[in-house]
This record gives sequence, structure tokens and C-alpha cells, in this order.
Amino acid sequence: MIEINGKTSILGVIGDPIEHTLSPVIHNTLCELTGINAAYLPIHVENAETDGESNIASAVKGLYASGVKGLNVTVPYKQEVMKTLVEVDSLAAEIGAVNTLVPSKIDKGYKGYNTDMPGLRRALESKGVILEGKKAVIIGAGGAARAVCVMLEKAGVEKIYLLNRTKEKAEKIASEISCITPLGLSEYKDIPVDKYIFFQCTSFGLKDTDGLVIDDDDFYKMAEYGYDLIYNPAVTPFIAKLDSLGVRSDNGLSMLLYQGIIAFEYWFDTKISGEDARLTYARLCQKLYGDNIILVGYMGSGKTTIGKALAKRRGMSFIDLDAYIVEREGRTINQIFAEDGEEKFREIETFAIDSIRFMHNTVVSTGGGAVLRTANRNLLKDCGRIYYLQADVDTIYERVKNDTARPLLNGLSEEEKKAKISEMLKQREVYYKTTSDVTINTSGKTVDEIVNIFSITE
Ligand code: ATR
Repeated sequence: MIEINGKTSILGVIGDPIEHTLSPVIHNTLCELTGINAAYLPIHVENAETDGESNIASAVKGLYASGVKGLNVTVPYKQEVMKTLVEVDSLAAEIGAVNTLVPSKIDKGYKGYNTDMPGLRRALESKGVILEGKKAVIIGAGGAARAVCVMLEKAGVEKIYLLNRTKEKAEKIASEISCITPLGLSEYKDIPVDKYIFFQCTSFGLKDTDGLVIDDDDFYKMAEYGYDLIYNPAVTPFIAKLDSLGVRSDNGLSMLLYQGIIAFEYWFDTKISGEDARLTYARLCQKLYGDNIILVGYMGSGKTTIGKALAKRRGMSFIDLDAYIVEREGRTINQIFAEDGEEKFREIETFAIDSIRFMHNTVVSTGGGAVLRTANRNLLKDCGRIYYLQADVDTIYERVKNDTARPLLNGLSEEEKKAKISEMLKQREVYYKTTSDVTINTSGKTVDEIVNIFSITE
């Protein structure tokens, strides 16, 4: 948190209700990271009138008169606020909704922007998802789906199949945007078999009891990538389905992050670095999903044993990344190495880390080589607090000598195994150390003693 003084600029978000907003986490973190002297607050503007004027209109006027440097606007004011603005950016006008207010340079009042869709676009870019020349399937035809259509058309998507329970709403959007074929939900089989980028834009999936709007594996198998605009719960039925089919997907938290980042960039005429975006995202994940504990270290450093004991002690879930890969692939690690080679295994591992990223309150034990790829190290940092379980060569040898499920040590004599462990440890230690937040030396300690150290280091 920055120290507030007489020069602190005020930022905020207006909405009703507002108490669950995550925007203060984004913006106050960005202020902290950039050193900008500003503070961001939730501002509850009740959806009512006072003295014949709507509260939103008088609030915006008053906040402008108070010199408030930047505002976000959320439900239910994204359309209504437009009436109070002196300027509206052309994209926001096209989408028909504003979520960011910036003091106008040409008139006395705010200019309105929509950073939700540029935010989604930047989130997809950050995941390496290319839109140009692609085809898309969108489920839902509410305000969010319409905005996604506008964004996709601008990004050069060639074709959009727009599916909605109420087909008329999809038809209405299709009458405004040329590349759309509107369909009712039951007409999904009319979509030609091909590869598509899928967007889940309905509100179905928010409740625990919600299922899938369309429940047919053949439909989801057409997805080359899927994005669910919902971010809470982290794993929606849509994400779970794509995951089970081995299709990469993300939830809407990255869109929330980047809409905030783009707003912040407007307010302060600045550019947020990838590193600051990543740190802010990690904080958002922590706030929303709770704190995961990630264990890294060489094989035999005790990641699985310690992980299970720690999870049990704290009432957390436990997941072993290697076991997770074996289950998903239907092959042992040895088989994957033998059949496809180490590089392919590392690719599968990256995919696995990516899909467990949104778990919460979970202890994750990673494979010994998980930190070797830059992509994995960055993904792991998004997952939670990382602990390096360190052990010396002799301890590791004692722990793994009879285990045949270690492809890199198979078929070696005792001396060769020790030499190999020592060599690999030397190569990898720098990655374990730079990836982790905390190092715990486990040599000569009992499981209980090691689990206790976790509490001390927090
Ligand atoms: P937003 O502005 O956030 O997009 P919205 O306009 O209320 O919200 O749209 C919600 C979307 O979720 C719509 O596409 C809605 O379908 P309808 O247009 O047929 O109402 C979809 N939706 C909500 N609940 C649904 C359910 N149980 N099954 C299928 N679609 C559902």
C-alpha cells in the first residue's frame, strides 16, 4: 500500500453493489509497483435519485469537480453513465458500454472508454492466442457476447457462430456484424466440423449447480482454445470440459486484469510491463482463489511426502503434477520419455501446470525438471508461493535408489547414480533458487520437522 499524503491522486470504481469488486486489488498493486502516488477506492453509488437527479449523474459531476483522476464504472451503470460524459471513445460507442472514465483534454468532464474488450484482446495475446484469420464459436448473446463479437471482428476473425438459448438475440447481433451466423442452442450441430476459438459468454456456470449449456464432447472437440468470461469459480463446467478433452483454456481473470491495466495506462499515460502485469495477476489469484503452496526441487527432495503431510496438516488439497500427467496421458512418465522423448514430456508438463493454475488452497508437488522451462517458471509463479525443498546428494540417493519410476536414473550403478544426481543438481539448483520464494533444507530432518518450517517461513 502506498503512503497517502497531500499529493495522493484519487481513483475509484462506481457501481451498485460494489463490495465484491477486485479492482482495488489491481490498481493499488499497480500504484505500489510503479511508485505512482494514487489510491483506488470502491465508491458505492446507490441506484436511485436524489432531488430529481440520478445519483450516478450527480456522483460523476461531483467526482470530476473533486479532481478525481480516474474512475471505473461497473454494473449497473456501464450504459447509463454515458449520458454524463463530455466525450465517448469510438470503440466504447460501438460496444455501447463504458467502463473507464478519464478527464477529457478538450472539455470539462470525463471521456468514457471501454477497456473490457481491449483487455480481453490483450489477455489472449499474453496467452499467445492468435485471432486473425481464425473462426470462433461464441456461446451466449448478451451484452458481453456482443462486445466480444465487436472485438473479434476488429481483430480479423473471419467467421463467428453465435449460439444462444434465445435465438432472436443472436440474430439481432448478427444483423449488426457481418461475419456472424446466429444459431439456437439446439442447432450447434449445424456448425461445420473445423477448429474454432471458443468463448463462453453466458452467465451459466456462475453457480455450483450450473452445468454446461451444450453437453456434447464432439462440440467441444472442435475447440483449439477456449475462454470463459467467468472467473469465479475458477474452474467452470466449460473449462473443466475442455480440460478433460486436452484443450487449452483460460478463465476471465486475465481479462479483468488487463481491462484494469489498460485503464491505468490511460490515467497515467504509462505502459505497464509484463513483469508488473504478472505480479498483479498473482495477487489477484491469491485474493480470489486463496494461497496455493508449490513445491519445487530435485527428485527425492521429498516434494510428494512433504506435500501430502502439509496438505493434511492444513486441510488443503494435494496434487502431484507427475501423477496428474500420468492420469491425463494414460501413460507412465517412463513411457512418455521412451515413446516421445524428454522435450515432449516437458511440453505436456507445461500444459499440466497451465491447467492447474486456477486451483486454490492446494499444495502442488512438481516434477524435478518442471523449473527448466521459462514458461513453466512463470506459470508456477502465478500459482502461489513457491518453496524449494533442498536436499544433499546422499540424502537424495537414499530416497530414490530403489525407485524405478525415475527415467533419468534408470539402469545406472550406485556410483553413476550419485554422479548423475550431483551433476543434475548443479545444473538445476539455480532454477530452483530463482523460481522459489523460500528455500527449505530437508537433509537430516523428519517430515514433521519440515512441515513445521513452513509456518515459520510465512
Ligand atoms: P451479459 O450482459 O453479462 O452478457 P446478459 O445480457 O444477461 O449478461 O446475458 C446472459 C447470457 O447468458 C445470455 O446469452 C443468456 O441467454 P438468453 O439470451 O437466452 O437469456 C445466457 N444464459 C443465462 N442463463 C442461461 C441458461 N440457464 N441456459 C442458457 N443460457 C443462459
